[in-house]
Amino acid sequence: MTISKITIVALSAIIMTACGSSKKSSTPAPSIIPGEAQLTAIKAKYPDATTEQLNEGYSIYTGACTNCHGQKNIFKRSEASWLHEIDDMSPKAKLTAAQKDALTKYILAMKATQTPEAK
Ligand code: HEC
Repeated sequence: MTISKITIVALSAIIMTACGSSKKSSTPAPSIIPGEAQLTAIKAKYPDATTEQLNEGYSIYTGACTNCHGQKNIFKRSEASWLHEIDDMSPKAKLTAAQKDALTKYILAMKATQTPEAK
């Protein structure tokens, strides 16, 4: 009994390790908290972007944007796809123009600093 359970656990571990690179892996975990790198990156596109805007975008993204569904993975969507989603979702979340602007800058800043592993 015990031995066969251990065998199954060991086999599962081997299989899971072998499939570690599978796209189905449900471990997102790259940081989505904006910092200096994100500010620098977004300033290349929007020179007027501020830390306050990135922080506001982050709090909208983790707040109002999770009222109807779970938090969506920033890194799984292209920049173009995000711009489309932001247009769609901002009215749903009743964002003001300034809030939508902050959210856009935040998401594009995270995309601009995305590492290849974060997918
Ligand atoms: C009033 C409810 C509501 C709010 C608030 C809301 N959404 Fe959605 N969202 C939906 C519904 C409904 C769908 C379509 C069903 C789904 O995919 O969950 C959706 C879909 C999405 C999708 C695409 C679905 C996918 O997983 O491929 C993204 C991305 C998204 N929302 C992001 C956001 C963001 C960012 C915000 C904040 C600005 C937001 N949502 C706020 C209701 C909402």
